[in-house]
Amino acid sequence: MHDAETFDKFTPFNCIAVRETLIDVIDKLTWNENENILDIGCGSGNVTVNVLSEYVPEDSTIIGADISDEMIKFARQLYTHPRITFKKMDILDDNLWPSWNKEHFSKIFSSHLMQRIRDSRKAYKNMYNLLQPGGEALMMIPITHPMDRITPYLAKMSKYNE
Ligand SMILES: C[S@@+](CC[C@H](N)C(=O)[O-])C[C@H]1O[C@@H](n2cnc3c(N)ncnc32)[C@H](O)[C@@H]1O
Repeated sequence: MHDAETFDKFTPFNCIAVRETLIDVIDKLTWNENENILDIGCGSGNVTVNVLSEYVPEDSTIIGADISDEMIKFARQLYTHPRITFKKMDILDDNLWPSWNKEHFSKIFSSHLMQRIRDSRKAYKNMYNLLQPGGEALMMIPITHPMDRITPYLAKMSKYNE
């Protein structure tokens, strides 16, 4: 996925889904001071800045990370936040170290990423190594998406049906 601007137009749907999930589960996580949080597959940054940041303690720092240079560039330009930085990371990278420190993060979030990852075992292994002992991870994986309702209608439009 390379067109960050187009992708960003659809992220309000993702924001709604992630907000609903966080409302349900955020109190089930264990929260400490100075949480160091990774949002992997952050995309354009809208969910990270406008949803995730609202549900974590105010003294937390968040890194939004994505494999796409364009997403990271877009996020840095459009979604600035004093406690959030955006960096490039491929969660399937066999050589994440030493660019990233093992056990660096106390929490790892991801939304709308893991359904796209073929080698989920490798991704989870890297996440495990990035997490501190006792750290927690929350994967938000869509089963349905608001776009599913309109996709059949879009498919019938000549613009999209070729
Ligand atoms: C559907 S978007 C979700 C963005 C955001 N989390 C949201 O919910 O709106 C999935 C993102 O995962 C990124 N991605 C795909 N494979 C990845 C990988 N191996 N490592 C890190 N990010 C990846 C894509 O570049 C894309 O920006």
